[in-house]
Amino acid sequence: MLAKEKRDGTLMPSSKRAPMSLLRSSLLIPLFAASSAFAADFKKDIQPILERNCYECHSLKTGKKKAGFVFDDLKTFKMDIADNDVAQIRPGKPSESHFLEILVSDGKNHMPPNENLSGAEIKKITEWITEGASFEKDAPKLAPTAAKKSLPPIMSWTNVDGKTIKAGFVRLDGDHVVLRMPLNAAEVPYPLAKLSEASQKLARDCAAP
Ligand code: HEC
Repeated sequence: MLAKEKRDGTLMPSSKRAPMSLLRSSLLIPLFAASSAFAADFKKDIQPILERNCYECHSLKTGKKKAGFVFDDLKTFKMDIADNDVAQIRPGKPSESHFLEILVSDGKNHMPPNENLSGAEIKKITEWITEGASFEKDAPKLAPTAAKKSLPPIMSWTNVDGKTIKAGFVRLDGDHVVLRMPLNAAEVPYPLAKLSEASQKLARDCAAP
């Protein structure tokens, strides 16, 4: 673990990294130990999500290859990851990754069918794609600054009147959630109290470290 911290540390100027490390190590030792400078690790964070929610229908092992996709065989899965228009996952570009879109949208090709990943799971997958969608723990990751430029993925929010709002999560701000509107990319604060309980939970999940 120590060696890994050091290796990751060299990717960022130490001046930027130090205060955060200090804060984390004093307040949240387990988090710091587990996460180092980057948020999502494929084997630890992403694979278990896919295993729980997707292997049932997308697996080389069981032969269930719905729509031709398998996610338990990394050689095959890797072919879906590339920076072009047809790839399911575009490294560093969560908002242009179809894979993520079908997890968060409620369109007819929503995955998994008839179920929803939790906000925390979607957040992990978003982070993993943002950082470069690598299977290797020690592969060079995309710089966080490059990642910030891409828009957050569009999710469905429901308010207390049952109306659906499609927007990306930006941050929690007091008793408001700041959403990014898909059409003009405007940031709009929305009162948490006016969201359904499920959407309030989604907002809190998205904001969780
Ligand atoms: C209960 C079975 C089932 C589960 C579980 C499931 N899928 Fe699917 N998936 C399907 C079927 C069936 C299709 C083909 C749907 C179609 O062509 O309309 C599909 C298609 C897809 C596609 C292609 C979609 C497109 O728009 O072309 C992707 C990508 C995908 N699934 C990803 C996932 C991911 C990621 C998970 C887990 C989070 C998942 N699936 C879980 C059954 C499933």
